[in-house]
Amino acid sequence: MNEVSDANVNPSKSPSLMRLRSPLRRRIILGTAVAALFPTVGRASRKPYIFSFDGVPLASSTDTIVLPNGYRWAVVAAWGDPIDGQGKGLSPNADDTAAMQESQFGMHHDGGAFFPDKGSSSKGVWVVNHEYTDDGLLHVGGMTPWTAEKVRKSQAAHGVTVSMIARQPSGGWLPVPSPVTRRITANTLCDVSGPAKGHELMRTAADSGGVSIRGTLNNCAHGVTPWGTYLTCEENFNGYFVKTGSVTPEERRVGLDAKGFGYRWQEFDERFDAGKHPNELNRFGWVVEIDPSDPLARPIKRTALGRFKHEGAWVTLAKDNRVVVYMGDDQRNEYVYKYVSLKSWDRKANPKGRGLLDDGTLYVARFDADGSGRWIALEYGKNGLTKDHGFIDQATILIHARLAADYVGATPMDRPEWIAVHPKNQDVYVTLTNNSERGSRTPINAANPREKNLMGHIVRWRETGRDAASTALKWDIFILAGEPTAADTALRGNVQGDWFGSPDGLWFDQRGILWTQTDISTSTLGKNAYANMPNNCMYAADPSTREFRRFLIGPRGCEITGVDLTPDYRTMFVNIQHPGESPSERADPSNPTAISSWPDGAIYKRPRSATIAIWREDGREVGT
Ligand code: FEO
Ligand code: CA
Ligand code: CA
Ligand code: CA
Repeated sequence: MNEVSDANVNPSKSPSLMRLRSPLRRRIILGTAVAALFPTVGRASRKPYIFSFDGVPLASSTDTIVLPNGYRWAVVAAWGDPIDGQGKGLSPNADDTAAMQESQFGMHHDGGAFFPDKGSSSKGVWVVNHEYTDDGLLHVGGMTPWTAEKVRKSQAAHGVTVSMIARQPSGGWLPVPSPVTRRITANTLCDVSGPAKGHELMRTAADSGGVSIRGTLNNCAHGVTPWGTYLTCEENFNGYFVKTGSVTPEERRVGLDAKGFGYRWQEFDERFDAGKHPNELNRFGWVVEIDPSDPLARPIKRTALGRFKHEGAWVTLAKDNRVVVYMGDDQRNEYVYKYVSLKSWDRKANPKGRGLLDDGTLYVARFDADGSGRWIALEYGKNGLTKDHGFIDQATILIHARLAADYVGATPMDRPEWIAVHPKNQDVYVTLTNNSERGSRTPINAANPREKNLMGHIVRWRETGRDAASTALKWDIFILAGEPTAADTALRGNVQGDWFGSPDGLWFDQRGILWTQTDISTSTLGKNAYANMPNNCMYAADPSTREFRRFLIGPRGCEITGVDLTPDYRTMFVNIQHPGESPSERADPSNPTAISSWPDGAIYKRPRSATIAIWREDGREVGT
């Protein structure tokens, strides 16, 4: 997403590391605090993984996918492709209507997950988020003139695609017809569940009961439940709304202002004018559950998981089978959260996980300087969250989760993005992508130790007893990103192997390989601190040795995000988001291929976000 979305809207101050004795501070800043603070995290498995691929060396910027020797790739589905592989795809000049866009893949693929068809590794449902649109590319003539039809098309290019895909004899994959295939857009009716369902703050003129919401948007990353549903997460929802005149503290805390991010939906869809419909803003910023197997099931906004700028929602089970969901709020100085269900999941009695995401406790993380940490409950009547302090009920706490988290003293982080749970030792890893304002607008703290953190880092923790439901943890800094040879210590990383910066996508496969994807902003790629990093990349990492090896280089101006594997590990799916993104807010519609024409600009005259499949020529497992 563009830079404006990262702005700090958190006015609260955290305990400053400056107050710590200087030797500790120095150790943390140099990245050696890892062992000093908590020597045992991540040491469960010392056996290094053998990556059999040769890391891809960085070269000057190329406009294609670069993979290790012996690997191949092909596009599965790009923006505008028919979701069933049959209907009409994007016209060569992209003059498709909003109605056509509703049966095509949306724009700007982000998180995604593969749901195997009866365990198959050659057929299954691919569910993919379409985070946002570049209206300079989406419409003929870009945003000039701006029309109701263009707003509808932009809304139709948002949301989620559910598409059956199948492996082809070539090794690549393509969409195929299936009854489950469907689009969910910024206009699809969603149900509301959990404590905020029906609450006064959720009611609007169109929905007096506060029980059903039209659309999901800015669907960033995702999660998968053990009962086989998909969680899509609403991130920079504020950018679609505008409000002229004064904003309330609650509105300001999620970044509502007079301009938004320039989507201009409010000009033809009044619900995005927060001056006219103040509660509509409260109906976005949620985790939304989708059942990929049931095309008639409405998406459900799960309000028990809180409302903030949800990056993703990564699900694991506690020792007693309670459902635990880890979540990052991606903005500068925002927080890490987790949800723990009240009841345990009984696979036989409750195969669809009914109620488990509606009744539970939302916690926010505090990372203390001594390497311990706590999960603080955002629960009405606890930790000062009472009427006396402006929290009138549980629904209000969930709707204004950031304010509740401020109140209880959560630790402001350097933009929490993806979270990954190690499949064997349950350690939890979170990417903190970067925070150029750390040390100026918000003081450094032990878990975010670098001033002007342009490179980002990865924090990990272990829950007490390795139980995801625990309220106490030990944490350390897994890696500081950045070139190990950088002269400037603020930019210097401690990564073994291939360096990177601005980590975002993070995912463990079941073998224990940690896949890391970067989202260096288009305005800094190949420049200044990132002079030696021309394109965004993807890495395989061994958590026991901290070795990172470059697996993929993306085309120009893209971000790499979203990854999954087939059960046999022989096909990997990766999303290439916004190839050719311009450092200015939107692409120039008169020159859409100025930066990239990936993957097929000769036909479509513009770059297109896409899911790709990756496989090995020798047919063996990807990555090992
Ligand atoms: Fe949508 Fe924080 O990335
Ligand atoms: Ca992006
Ligand atoms: Ca992301
Ligand atoms: Ca990002």
